[in-house]
Amino acid sequence: MFTGRSYCGEVTVDDIGARVMLCGWVDVKRDLGGIVFIEMRDVTGLVQLVVDSSQASAAAEAADRVRSEYCIMARGAVRRRSDETVNPALATGTVEVVADEIVILNASVAPPIPIDSRENVNEEQRLAYRFLDLRRADMQEAIIVRHRVMQAVRAYCAANRFIEIETPMLNKSTPEGARDFLVPSRLSRGMFYALPQSPQLFKQILMVSGFDRYFQIVKCFRDEDLRNDRQPEFTQVDLELSFITRDMIIDIIEGMIAVIVREGFGKEVSLPFPRITYDDAMRRYGKDAPDTRFGMELSELSDLFAQSSFNVFSSTVASGGIIKAFVVEDKDRLSRKNLDDYTEYVKVFKAGGMPWVRFRNGAFEGGIAKFLSEPEREGLRARLSLRENAVVIFGCDRAEIVNATLAGMRLKIAQDLGMIDPELLNFVWVTDFPLLEYDPGEKRYYAKHHPFTAPAAEHVAALDAITPETVDGITAQAYDIVLNGVEIGGGSIRINTPALQKKMFELLGIGEEEARVKFSFLLDALQYGAPPHGGIALGLDRVMMLLLKRASIRDVIAFPKTQKGQCLMSQAPSPVAPQQLKELSIKILER
Ligand code: AMO
Repeated sequence: MFTGRSYCGEVTVDDIGARVMLCGWVDVKRDLGGIVFIEMRDVTGLVQLVVDSSQASAAAEAADRVRSEYCIMARGAVRRRSDETVNPALATGTVEVVADEIVILNASVAPPIPIDSRENVNEEQRLAYRFLDLRRADMQEAIIVRHRVMQAVRAYCAANRFIEIETPMLNKSTPEGARDFLVPSRLSRGMFYALPQSPQLFKQILMVSGFDRYFQIVKCFRDEDLRNDRQPEFTQVDLELSFITRDMIIDIIEGMIAVIVREGFGKEVSLPFPRITYDDAMRRYGKDAPDTRFGMELSELSDLFAQSSFNVFSSTVASGGIIKAFVVEDKDRLSRKNLDDYTEYVKVFKAGGMPWVRFRNGAFEGGIAKFLSEPEREGLRARLSLRENAVVIFGCDRAEIVNATLAGMRLKIAQDLGMIDPELLNFVWVTDFPLLEYDPGEKRYYAKHHPFTAPAAEHVAALDAITPETVDGITAQAYDIVLNGVEIGGGSIRINTPALQKKMFELLGIGEEEARVKFSFLLDALQYGAPPHGGIALGLDRVMMLLLKRASIRDVIAFPKTQKGQCLMSQAPSPVAPQQLKELSIKILER
């Protein structure tokens, strides 16, 4: 019955006069009395069927019965539409199929959400009825482009001598800084597997085994707080290479991104991508994933205001805080009301306020103008190269708060004032990350990337004398790739000797016994001629979200979880039968 099938979206003028057989769904039906138009849809798009219902026929009877979302098969001849009925909005809009046979393959009850993706539907409804939501054009596009990108990545990796190797999902914990999802073992009572946060250790082991270029398009699992660019299970394009330098890895990923953008989106990117060090990114943009699509870079002004009579500034500097600022070339677009609203808004960054001042007619006015001394005014004018009508936005607090606040406000103001060209794809590499972070509360160091990342060769010796004061100066051979202000990938050159790996564990407070229990296989493997190696992982969902310009990562994943980690369609997570718990020797505690 289904042999010789054509696809709705692929019927063209070349088919005029030919008979086609189509299978799909009724998108919209219009019955004009004597003639019925059916927009028929399949995975390739829409085509218009025309059914003559002026005389009784099986096709006319079926056309009368069908409703939206009925699944049908249709046969008929392709003809050119008359000039007045050509639909330029439709790829197949110059033709139609005169259907003389329509078979209802299955009926549909009325869909609870519209299938037309131009209509807004609340996301909970969409996720609950994902099987219908995935029929919508937006979702079909996302899933199909994602497929094309995955194929392009596979072809690129194979052409560059990468071998695709699967690593286990039932694992021991791989620390990437998040909580593990645990799976209880039935056969080893009281024991648990961890789902991989990434294939990090297995891919390193593969290097020791001699597979000198590995890749995998792989699911990773992290039990962390969810946001619009985070899912508890997500997909990485994961790479590891031996006998490699950072710059070689950067070249390979740039080539891969060029292919992704070309094959997925028909666009070209210009290579190489710019690079910025972590220190410069923090200084100029206040975050390690800088958005370079617009200006308004930050300037540090702590020295200018150290002795200020504006007490908020001078006391902040005196207590070890900093003052930074950026300039909005305003042309009067920022009203007093906007600025007052922003002053409230900065609380989300834990900032106490957002001092500002306007430069107009060669003088300062508004905001904190009245507190500024003449040398401070002069300093601001010269150092920020102020032009007429500029507004200066200040941050004044501990460095972390200032950077987070100004990075956030810089983006918000640029978005609010429409300063970002939506077509831009600004890729940038961030390099030379610090190796470790010190947590003064817990009085311990954390790995900034992960514990397997190699320190810069010239900083290895400094590890012996590390203190909370010197920690920031010790850099790692780690790099991130950022697109439009979002981290889309990260990697590093790895430690490949047991001695340095043990030292790293020690610095991270992982004692000898704990290291043996958790990582003895790695420490062991590193003894057997482990090659110099390094790698990177791209977050495929984030890449797709940004390239498809979707607001949420959920819009590029077929079956995503909500912010609460639930699948509203299948209702996971869900309770399990007492018998299952018993087999696993698990008892649920009352809260
Ligand atoms: P990292 O932890 O930086 O590195 O992860 C790599 C990339 O994965 C994406 N990503 C996520 N995407 C969606 N939801 C999440 N919860 C999530 N977490 C991370 C990001 C990120 O840049 N093993 C190392 C890589 C390596 O060193 O080779 C790793 O996993 O885009």
